Amino acid sequence: MFVEKVQSALNQQINMELQAHYTYLAAADYFEGMGLKGFSQWIFNHAEEEMAHAMKIYQFIHSRRGRVELFPVPAPEGGFGSPQEVMEGTLRQEQKVTASIDRIVKLARLEGDYATDSFLQWFVDEQVEEEELVDDLVQKLRLIGDFKPGLYLLDRELAGVGVLEETEAAG
Ligand code: FEO
Repeated sequence: MFVEKVQSALNQQINMELQAHYTYLAAADYFEGMGLKGFSQWIFNHAEEEMAHAMKIYQFIHSRRGRVELFPVPAPEGGFGSPQEVMEGTLRQEQKVTASIDRIVKLARLEGDYATDSFLQWFVDEQVEEEELVDDLVQKLRLIGDFKPGLYLLDRELAGVGVLEETEAAG
């Protein structure tokens, strides 16, 4: 049975995914302004994924004959200090999403809503992947620190251009 409390939590989750979408769009713009096109494209793709997550939940609510409720999406905070700060913020955002998904799974089980529990398992797996990907970038950025050539190379890596390809092109 699709319980009102679960439906309400899923509607809140749509809003959270849209907030992530918005935040990552702002981050992509920040990277674009720095000339870091690899980072910009990477996080732009991530923003699109967040929109897809929101739509997945939107459609699930309809498939359960529920109603979607849309809430205001606050403007992203912006004011990014450095690429490392952006990625650390992204990691915190993903951890918040993971905690929220876990809470809804718990609620769905408590309420005997096993269809929602099953639906959300995709998100549980997705969050493991997303946190790992973002954490990987945070670790690399910590390693790079203020070494600009390192940042440049990582940007090329994210753009899908390997160091070897660049060397070959130059040679
Ligand atoms: Fe949809 Fe990255 O959480």
